[in-house]
Amino acid sequence: MKTIIPESKLSASPDTLKSTAPLRQAYDLCVRKTRRNIKALADEPRSWSNAADGNYASNNEGFYEIGNWTSSFFTGMALLAWRETGDEYFLQQTLRLAPAYREKVFTRFVDTHHDLGFLYTLYSVALYKLTQDKAHREVGLRAAEVLYQRFNHQGGFIRAWGHMNTTEQDNLAIIDCMMNLPLLYWASLESGDPKFRDAAIKQADTILKNFIRADDSVFHAYRFDLKTGKSIGGDNYCGRSVDSHWVRGTTWAIYGFAISYRYTGDKKYLDASLRLARKFNQELNGDAIPVWDFRLPAGEAPLRDSSAAAVAVCGYQELEKLGAADALITKAKESLLYHICSDAYLNFDDNCRGVLRDGQVGLNGPGSAQNAYTSWGDYYLMEALAHELFQAETWW
Ligand code: GLY
Repeated sequence: MKTIIPESKLSASPDTLKSTAPLRQAYDLCVRKTRRNIKALADEPRSWSNAADGNYASNNEGFYEIGNWTSSFFTGMALLAWRETGDEYFLQQTLRLAPAYREKVFTRFVDTHHDLGFLYTLYSVALYKLTQDKAHREVGLRAAEVLYQRFNHQGGFIRAWGHMNTTEQDNLAIIDCMMNLPLLYWASLESGDPKFRDAAIKQADTILKNFIRADDSVFHAYRFDLKTGKSIGGDNYCGRSVDSHWVRGTTWAIYGFAISYRYTGDKKYLDASLRLARKFNQELNGDAIPVWDFRLPAGEAPLRDSSAAAVAVCGYQELEKLGAADALITKAKESLLYHICSDAYLNFDDNCRGVLRDGQVGLNGPGSAQNAYTSWGDYYLMEALAHELFQAETWW
């Protein structure tokens, strides 16, 4: 296991870190690595997710398999690079993947998980917003329809996992889904059909009611009685335990609720995002980067999750854009961003595909990884930098 970086190495205060040079350097690094990554992914579409050595191409999963919720973090980075540099190479490489994305929702009908939002917001929706090419709109709307089919009307939740023609995990929702909702909001705006937005609102309400505890910590997962629609109780696949406080889940919810407020104007979502952000800051307690779960048993290694820090920065930027961030949120945002842009967290070796070190993935089961490079950590880092440096809009 990798050495944990001592806090003393990470203790520079935001006041001493005013220059944007480290951010610009980190952004240029993302662009350079994306140039190589997007071509390799387009040459051989696969599920690129996370890797301890940074070699995402070594993931053994196919593009159409259930675990692939992550390939679009690379297309998202390529489109950020295209938008900010104007270099057509990034667009052309990204477009080579269009047949695979179309096939995934039209002919293969990938009804295995709810992460169509992660996958298609950072592909079809982003491409449509950037190019106005209606073919991407069509694929994005189809992805929203496939996601909508996972909505359980009785329970008011989106089923996270499992083929729809099986009962496997048919009563489970997870907090990560907050970041799938933007695809549904977008689909209603584009199509004029309110059903997508209604489902998104119900899912956000279900998460608000069940997943957020009285002390503003969160459950990763929750189960529902399919006959009555009533909630059964918490569950967990990503945090330390059912009753623990998985940090990346909190950051998905901070960002996701802020976005739900942006689309709906419903103040309770903004309040939820702010409550979770304040709890996050309180638990962070001055640390540079959060431990991966705020409730680890005594004596357990406090591994830090840089990818949660990157998502938190994007959530805090959204709160700033909404005019809702207080000074503590802005201060925490700056501290998190500058720390993940330090040499301790960035890999400047162009031979390594990964950018951001030390993401934590899952528990100890299959697919889990400690101190790994993660596709989402790299993406949210780049999104945060694009916003901080260029005031770029997000596609969520
Ligand atoms: N959505 C899975 C994760 O954040 O690890």
